[in-house]
Amino acid sequence: MIVIILFLYFACIEASHFYGGTVTWKPMNNTDNGSSIAVMFTQSYQWSRSHSSSTYCNQSTIVNQSPLLCAGSGTLVCTTAASTCGNYTALDIGEYCTDFSVVADSSSGQIFHVENITAGAEFYVAYTGSSWIGLQSSTCGSSGKKKRHSSGGGSGTTTKRTTVLTTTGATCYSTSAAWSIGTCVNLTVRPDGFINTPPVATVISPIDVSVDTLTAITIPVIDADGDYTSCRWAQKTATLDECGDVCQSAPGGVIDGDNCTLTFNSTGTVVGQHYAVALMVEDFYDQSTYTPFSRVPIQFLIHIVGAAVCPLQPQIS
Ligand SMILES: *[C@@H]1O[C@H](CO)[C@@H](O)[C@H](O)[C@H]1NC(C)=O
Ligand SMILES: *[C@@H]1O[C@H](CO)[C@@H](O)[C@H](O)[C@H]1NC(C)=O
Ligand SMILES: *[C@@H]1O[C@H](CO)[C@@H](O)[C@H](O)[C@H]1NC(C)=O
Ligand SMILES: *[C@@H]1O[C@H](CO)[C@@H](O)[C@H](O)[C@H]1NC(C)=O
Ligand SMILES: *[C@@H]1O[C@H](CO)[C@@H](O)[C@H](O)[C@H]1NC(C)=O
Ligand SMILES: *[C@@H]1O[C@H](CO)[C@@H](O)[C@H](O)[C@H]1NC(C)=O
Ligand SMILES: *[C@@H]1O[C@H](CO)[C@@H](O)[C@H](O)[C@H]1NC(C)=O
Ligand SMILES: *[C@@H]1O[C@H](CO)[C@@H](O)[C@H](O)[C@H]1NC(C)=O
Repeated sequence: MIVIILFLYFACIEASHFYGGTVTWKPMNNTDNGSSIAVMFTQSYQWSRSHSSSTYCNQSTIVNQSPLLCAGSGTLVCTTAASTCGNYTALDIGEYCTDFSVVADSSSGQIFHVENITAGAEFYVAYTGSSWIGLQSSTCGSSGKKKRHSSGGGSGTTTKRTTVLTTTGATCYSTSAAWSIGTCVNLTVRPDGFINTPPVATVISPIDVSVDTLTAITIPVIDADGDYTSCRWAQKTATLDECGDVCQSAPGGVIDGDNCTLTFNSTGTVVGQHYAVALMVEDFYDQSTYTPFSRVPIQFLIHIVGAAVCPLQPQIS
């Protein structure tokens, strides 16, 4: 029995099964002026459904709200100095299954936790692990070993908000690409007198894209404060590893930051391939402000499928 439990535990952290997700938080009361603020953390991840019993979901799992997907296999940890973490304690990533697809072989879930965090705290939280499901990667180490020191391969020009990027780096197939998905928690009171609520972005992973097409993928973004929002490619920075081994690994993908639209050129890709897209959504006081209040990750897969066979398929413009 112990052996089986251990097997399931490792099955959820050591093998190729991650499909992406998002992490966000919000103050329960954005005008709370106490010394500690109740903050709700929301984690939402997608997994390969067939991978193991800990990622398996069917209608019973949803109705019973049990078992949790990947419970006990990882945590959302504070990645900054402990003294800055405002009494945050690491949260388990185990989540209620909310949806599944047999065709896409995916299980999707979500979990909410509320913690009391010191007023004014600023820190980063992240969930890291391995591996993404087998995908095209820019991390082409020998014998599939991970190289953690460099994302490599990408070249791009960054303007104030829109990053135009033509990566050519996703050249090898990897079943060991690590993920890192995180956000900044920022309870600083805004210039306009309340605590910020970060944006919320949602996407279904994987997204099917026909081979040899130009496809616009718009990520719906909602900001409870009505702030100006913008999307950019995730990056590895000194304060937060926003993308693990899949930084800017969607070759030929171009982001329009203002409307959070990724235009993906699948020319030269191969049916069956997966590409990971790691983006960050930021909110700003207004369109002429360039320091974000917050940033939240949205990570998903593009799955290359054959050209549409149905001749009556509606045109998407
Ligand atoms: C939020 O906090 C403020 C300040 O403590 C309080 O006056 C207000 O009633 C609270 N709002 C809610 C909805 O609890
Ligand atoms: C918090 O806000 C409430 C309502 O605005 C106010 O009555 C109270 O004095 C404030 N408390 C502190 C510690 O500033
Ligand atoms: C869901 O899966 C469990 C475990 O494999 C099984 O016992 C149950 O009958 C399934 N329920 C449905 C509705 O398929
Ligand atoms: C954590 O909470 C304790 C008691 O509630 C408080 O004394 C301490 O300052 C807090 N620590 C941080 C880092 O906010
Ligand atoms: C947060 O603090 C409130 C009182 O300030 C307390 O009632 C509540 O149980 C605390 N919540 C957690 C999750 O510690
Ligand atoms: C936290 O928010 C404040 C504005 O409310 C902003 O000036 C600051 O840069 C933010 N901190 C981080 C780490 O993003
Ligand atoms: C996004 O914005 C760009 C340029 O601003 C525009 O060309 C494109 O049609 C927009 N896409 C959507 C889905 O609104
Ligand atoms: C898509 O990529 C192909 C191959 O790199 C290139 O020839 C083509 O011009 C691109 N299409 C667009 C619209 O950018």
